[in-house]
Amino acid sequence: MIATLANKKQNRVAKILEHASGDKRFKILEAHMKKHQFKHDALIEVLHKAQELFGYLEDDLLLFIAYKLKLPASRVYGVATFYHFFTLKPKGQHTCVVCMGTACYVKGADKVLAAVEEKAKIKAGETTANNQLSLLTARCIGACGIAPAVVYDGTVTPRQTPATALEHVKGWLEHGN
Ligand code: FES
Repeated sequence: MIATLANKKQNRVAKILEHASGDKRFKILEAHMKKHQFKHDALIEVLHKAQELFGYLEDDLLLFIAYKLKLPASRVYGVATFYHFFTLKPKGQHTCVVCMGTACYVKGADKVLAAVEEKAKIKAGETTANNQLSLLTARCIGACGIAPAVVYDGTVTPRQTPATALEHVKGWLEHGN
């Protein structure tokens, strides 16, 4: 039984690491941890950076941090849930994270965000009444070369405009799919 649980955990970590290898945000986060020499007492600082990069802290991200800092996952979850300034996975079925870092901002990220806010009738940080869409912002997701970038359900998408962003979230808002 214990061996099975350990195997399950190992498989999950292996999956997360595989996913992380293709997502630049994880690399930036790891470089940040390295800067802090993977010290345990840098956990809050690392969680802040993770939230800046991803917009919110989802389970896989917390497990990635726990694995890299060699901390028990329960400790990382405990800290992430204790402080009100950390946002855990929002309740929306879908997520739209607009990067508001400098490069994206100067290329019109504010207009992209405003268009989605208006269409969805919510502000950044909120979820629609039907729980279909959670709208969030991040601060530089490491994709400045393709600014303005938006992350739809975990997929970093380049050169967004108000029109392309609305096209993306339209189905979620109207049909919930
Ligand atoms: S500012 Fe948006 S990716 Fe860097």
